[in-house]
Order: sequence, then C-alpha cells, then structure tokens
Amino acid sequence: MNSNVDKMRSFIVMDVLERAKELESEGADVIHLEVGEPDFNMPQAAVEAVARAAADGNTHYTHSLGLLQLRQAIANQYNTEYGVKVSADNIVVTCGSSQAILMALLLLCNTGDEVIISNPGYACYRNFILAANAVPVEVPLSAENDFQFDIQTLKKVITPRTRAIIVNSPMNPTGTLMHSDVMQQMAQLGITVISDEIYHGLVYEGKAETMLQHTDNTLIINGFSKRYAMTGLRLGYLIAPEQFMRKLQIIQQNLFICAPSVSQYGALAALTSEQAETELVKMRQTYDERRKYLISRLREIGFTIHTEPKGAFYIFADARCYASDTYRFAFDALEQAHVGITPGIDFGSRGEGFVRFSYANSIENIGRAMNRLETWIKENF
Ligand SMILES: Cc1ncc(COP(=O)(O)O)c(C=O)c1O
Repeated sequence: MNSNVDKMRSFIVMDVLERAKELESEGADVIHLEVGEPDFNMPQAAVEAVARAAADGNTHYTHSLGLLQLRQAIANQYNTEYGVKVSADNIVVTCGSSQAILMALLLLCNTGDEVIISNPGYACYRNFILAANAVPVEVPLSAENDFQFDIQTLKKVITPRTRAIIVNSPMNPTGTLMHSDVMQQMAQLGITVISDEIYHGLVYEGKAETMLQHTDNTLIINGFSKRYAMTGLRLGYLIAPEQFMRKLQIIQQNLFICAPSVSQYGALAALTSEQAETELVKMRQTYDERRKYLISRLREIGFTIHTEPKGAFYIFADARCYASDTYRFAFDALEQAHVGITPGIDFGSRGEGFVRFSYANSIENIGRAMNRLETWIKENF
C-alpha cells in the first residue's frame, strides 16, 4: 500500500455520524450537532435551473475549466464583494472545493515538499497534503489568542521546502475570522497562500476578507456547498494566478475532465438570482440566532467559549472541565445522551480538550440537545 495512504487518519466526525446512524436504526432519537452540512435546502432558483438543465439535455461534459458564464459570475461576485480584480480566465470550476484543494497541492508540490497548516484546523488538509506526496507541517493556534496565526511562530517552521500555507477563514472548527493584520503579515512572507474561503457568506460579526485583498501570490478555494447549501451538487472552484492556469487546465482535463454540468447550471442560478440572495440573507439570520442561543446555553451548562465564533456554523467549546479525553466524552455523549458532537482531536492534537458543536440544525433541536447534555453532565461529572 502507498505509505502516505497508510498515514491517513479517519475523519472522526464521519465515525460519529456512522455510529449515530446505527443507533438510529435501533430506534434511538439522536440529535445531530456533529455534521458540518447546512440543514437548509438549496435556493429555489438553483433547484429549477438543475431540473431545466437536465430536461434540456445539458448533461454532457462542459469546458474543462467550467461554463464561461459561471466563471464570469464567480469573478463578478469576488470583484463586487471585495473590490479585487478576478477574471473568468483565472477560474477552474471543480467537483466540490475538495477537488480544488487537491489540485492546488498537486500543482505546487514535489515529493517531500512541505505545506504548513494550523493545529487545530480542518481535518482533511493533512490528508490532501499526503495525497500530493508532500509533508504537512503544523503550526499551533491557541484559544487564548483567538485561534490566530502567530507570525513569529510561523516564520520558525518555514524551510526551503515550504511550498504553501493553507488558511481557512471563517475557520472550521473554530468559527473564527483571520484578523486583517495577520493576513497582511502572512502575505509578506513570500510563500503561496492557499486560502480556503468556503465559509464566506456565512459571517455574523465583522467581515471576511479574501486573501486576494492582500496578495496575488495566492490560490483561492471556494464553492457552493456551504453558502448555498448545495453540498450534494459537488461544486467548487479554484481562483489562481495566470501562470498556473494552463497547468491546472491540464490536470483538470486528465484527472477530472470537468465539474458536473447540471450542478454548474444550478450554481449559476444561485449566483445570479436575486431570490437566492434573499434566501441567503434569511439563512444567515437563522444561523446567527442559533449561534447566539447555542453560545449562551453552552456557557450556562459550563463549557468555556474563549472567543465567540463569528462565522461558519461551528462552536469550538473548551470541555476540559469535564474531560481530558474528549474523544471518549463525545462518544459517551452519543451513546448515553444521544447527542452527536465532534471531538476536538479530529482537528489536530491541539483540539484535544475541545468539542465542536455544529449549529446546522433547528433551534428546537439545539435546545433539546442542550437539555439532554445538561442532564447527562449533571449525572456523570
Ligand atoms: C474548511 C472546509 N474546506 C473544504 C470543505 C469541503 O467542501 P466541499 O463540499 O466543497 O468539497 C469543507 C467541508 O466541510 C470544509 O469544512
């Protein structure tokens, strides 16, 4: 077996979910606060566009880079929202942002090259880096420092083999936004930044910035899974500097051919329909209500939330007062209280002692889950 595949770790949240499904099949009523997937439907305009594309026979391969109109709409969104200059020629539409991450790494890395990631951070980055035969190098982030990169610490891990730094703001699992001055200082290090902006659009306090506002030496990862609740359509994109575009196109043509055609029509409708924008505003308000409610309930129960999350749909709560082994804590909460939560260790060794709560569930279910956890904690800790 490939030794890098052998090094890949399981995505623990999926292990929690799969055990939850088993319990459900035995009749248990599990409340899911583990999954990182919007509980909303995708915008109505996208639903109609997908159906229309299928009915009209737009079910064939598209241009390898994606439909031109879609790439223009993506460019337009970046230019309007952030005042940057993105062209349709700098965009590759991909099968989910996951593919975009893989392509960025395949493009940049030779065997043994290093890519810097945060610890804690999105669980899959490490495995994408291994898949590209590169080496993940972790930089610690701490709750006390609002999970921000410390530039001096970052400088210490940079070596001649460093090819990229991966950042994610708003961040999974912490919900934090990168501070503007940290982005600026990172941009000045002269290392390519792979900026995963998948949670842009889901920000409740402050404003997310794109790395493009700080440097051109960046590859932007984004997609339709979170902002438009379109996870199953598997659509994302990569924005890259001109000098990389031909090589990215060659990777796309050979390894993936193109992104799914009907999904591209759906995404185009999501980006260009006013109604979809209105639905997004409503969805954001609903998430924000849940965020505030969940923060206050978790604090009442006794969890510590060092800094309040400002985006995405996660709260990374410090559970050290209850358990040092939060893997065990999460699985016990599932088995005994029937509440699904994700152990912090899924996001790196520095996530130990923390638990990620997702508020991609109704406020009623969040309330029921908190009542169950409160009783379970009183009885057991
Ligand atoms: C930070 C981050 N990046 C990328 C992804 C992958 O999303 P997609 O559905 O676009 O592949 C996820 C999914 O949870 C995520 O949390």
